[in-house]
Amino acid sequence: MHINGKHYRSIWHDTNTDAACIFDQTLLPHELRVLELNSVGDVCHAIASMQVRGAPLIGACAAYGMYFALRSDPSPAHEESAAAQLVATRPTAINLRWAVERVRQAIAQCENKDKAAVALQEAMRICDEDAGTCSRIGDHGLELIHLMHEKKSGNVVNILTHCNAGWIATVDWGTALAPIYKAHLAGIPVHVWVDETRPRNQGALTAWELQQAGVPHTYIADNTGGHLMQHGLVDLCIVGTDRTTTQGDVCNKIGTYLKALAARDNSIPFYVALPTSTIDWTVRDGIREIPIEERDSFELTHVQGIHADTGSIGNVRVTPAHSRAANYAFDVTPARLVTGLITEHGVFEASPKGLQSIRQAMATPR
Ligand code: MRU
Repeated sequence: MHINGKHYRSIWHDTNTDAACIFDQTLLPHELRVLELNSVGDVCHAIASMQVRGAPLIGACAAYGMYFALRSDPSPAHEESAAAQLVATRPTAINLRWAVERVRQAIAQCENKDKAAVALQEAMRICDEDAGTCSRIGDHGLELIHLMHEKKSGNVVNILTHCNAGWIATVDWGTALAPIYKAHLAGIPVHVWVDETRPRNQGALTAWELQQAGVPHTYIADNTGGHLMQHGLVDLCIVGTDRTTTQGDVCNKIGTYLKALAARDNSIPFYVALPTSTIDWTVRDGIREIPIEERDSFELTHVQGIHADTGSIGNVRVTPAHSRAANYAFDVTPARLVTGLITEHGVFEASPKGLQSIRQAMATPR
């Protein structure tokens, strides 16, 4: 996607420095700074501190982490400890484990080849595949927006999204935002309601992305969605997911569940967009089985922003000094509240049957 008219991916390999380059998302949308990651330690820090974030992107970044680990020490013991370190950085998004396992499988099959070279190749392949996958999610989601546009007799389609599931959360295109970009490019008039998404305000990243792409949007406080839905101002919700279960439950940024409840109460379609790498085939009941990340309460008690007078980025406290705060990062939306799962293979029912169909589609060569 584009920043100031120039195409970027959210992660790339710099052949001169042999580093993985990312945008420091803790500074966005106020400052665009490229960071070079050179070691497994750098990657772990970037993921844990959310310099990189979004399920597919942290997977891609972890794959580079495996490359750095093997470049410095290709022994099986080091590979094992690096994998464990990377997987432990964030507990909810399953892409992290998926990507680390993919690199390890590639290494296991490489016999006498240079392990680090194989890991780098696999990391780059994961990135290329993610970009293609998200583009296809966009194509399938576009059909849904197109149908809504027809239903509305050519009027603007109002879409609500939560968190940031755009290109900066993946390698390119995004998950929930990919169909919106494709609709905009196809000339369908869309307007996006962007949830602020406290406490980390990933909605600001969504607003920044949409602004760069010229997509009309409005930033709203998290609690606004229900009101908008009651007044006919939302036609469709599309969100991402960090982990999807075999019965179709989706675990996404905290607050997603409440949006799904409001959507159901107002008969508004609630779609979830995902690459199949976010499906955890070992988990059925999302509420009971998915570990929910609890982050530092500082993220909740303080708000980061850019100072209106000085232009510097800083934090201000919004709570009384000694109030306890609980910062749950994700929640689970049960399958019954999900209208459909938009994947790279098409749109499927959020149900055990739908997940079986996804599995079949994954096994069928394109
Ligand atoms: O805590 P984050 O910012 O990494 O959470 C990101 C989300 O919840 C996204 O909606 C998700 O990763 C799905 S799609 C990119």
